[in-house]
Amino acid sequence: AIDIEKLRSETGAVTMDPGFKNTGACKSAITFLDGEEGILRYRGYSIEQLAEQSNFLEVSYLLIFGELPTAAQIEKFENDIRKYTLVNEEMKNIIDGFPKNAHPMGILASLTSALTAFNPAPVNVAKEDELYDAICKTMGKFLVIATWTFRKNMGYPLNYYDNTKGYVENFMRLMFELPTGPYLRNETVVNALDKLFILHADHEQNCSTSTVRIVGSSHAGLFASISAGVSALWGPLHGGANQAVLEMLEEIQNNGGDADKYLAKAKDKDDPFRLMGFGHRVYKNFDPRAKIIKKAADDVLAELGVNDPILNIAKKLEEAALQDEYFKSRNLYPNVDFYSGIIYRALGIPTEMFTVLFAIGRLPGWIAQWKEMRVNKEPIGRPRQIYTGAPLRDFVEQSAR
Ligand code: ACO
Repeated sequence: AIDIEKLRSETGAVTMDPGFKNTGACKSAITFLDGEEGILRYRGYSIEQLAEQSNFLEVSYLLIFGELPTAAQIEKFENDIRKYTLVNEEMKNIIDGFPKNAHPMGILASLTSALTAFNPAPVNVAKEDELYDAICKTMGKFLVIATWTFRKNMGYPLNYYDNTKGYVENFMRLMFELPTGPYLRNETVVNALDKLFILHADHEQNCSTSTVRIVGSSHAGLFASISAGVSALWGPLHGGANQAVLEMLEEIQNNGGDADKYLAKAKDKDDPFRLMGFGHRVYKNFDPRAKIIKKAADDVLAELGVNDPILNIAKKLEEAALQDEYFKSRNLYPNVDFYSGIIYRALGIPTEMFTVLFAIGRLPGWIAQWKEMRVNKEPIGRPRQIYTGAPLRDFVEQSAR
């Protein structure tokens, strides 16, 4: 193997890999991903089996602690998360300070960061019980504040976790329950969300996860690192794509429903428009998550009896792109975000909340990766660069500039 440190000190050479297209930043035992074959496994278990047979809390435990939990372990985990679902009342003052139509991801990143202020003691990762507590605290509080971002936008009263209900069912309650009446509450909805959260739970060194690891590598705390992950996820080339997909489909519908016209725009190199929900940095054959979600979307829509013209546009676009030489030759297939928004829309979740749902799903992955990085005592992340600026020059007095 090449000794990079030695090579650099002897020659000044650095490896250049913009976008880290082929740079491994760590060793990880959490998620296996084969982009050519379209394989995704958490801790060795196939995503297909987990989506079919497990549930989100169990998968969270698996990702974070390495093994599927026993009945006693998952019961304890769920109880310990519940213990931490109360959010400091003073956090409400922070929420009140945001403008009414602030983007939920902006509020979520800020509130997650604010949790650091309310829980300032650093976590000693060498102490298993401290680490475990910090993990349960993050899982509990994040779900509640994530749903509060929606309630804030709607002007609804903020509410609390219901200890008699499960984690995913609590998501629907926290979002939609009002003092005045019931909310959309059926098993199909909870199962579909559970599946979606599982499919989003980890994806090795993607942009937001790498961010969480690199921020945490300075020994910044868990909340601060997760807050950075939320910000990274927000971008439209990453988790923000699920919102962008729906907005794109709505735009196509509002402009006469001509999918081919938008396909042509996406191929035009002078047009910055990209077909949102298509393409992936690693999957060059198909996205295994998209396959599972596509079926879940069909099931949910049939079960809820939804007949949405946006879906017909999505289908037209998908079929046309899959047969198009431009998309075929660049291995551009629908990714997970192409279908997830369709389900969220059918469940009545507003478009601006789509990326927040992604964040709730991705939380256990971020935690698992942060924990692995700290427990493995990884060094601080600090890439090098190739300097392209001015050579040494003399300072010029302001009067002479
Ligand atoms: N529409 C049109 N053309 C595209 C698209 C697209 N969605 N995606 C890639 N291309 C083209 C590029 O223009 C480029 O063409 P060229 O070779 O002629 O220059 C080629 O395909 C390769 O694209 P890159 O941008 O180099 O691929 P990269 O791996 O850097 O980007 C990404 C991957 C960001 C996902 C990209 O495909 C994209 O922007 N997709 C749309 C946004 C999206 O759906 N993001 C969600 C990703 S999944 C997730 O985060 C959960």
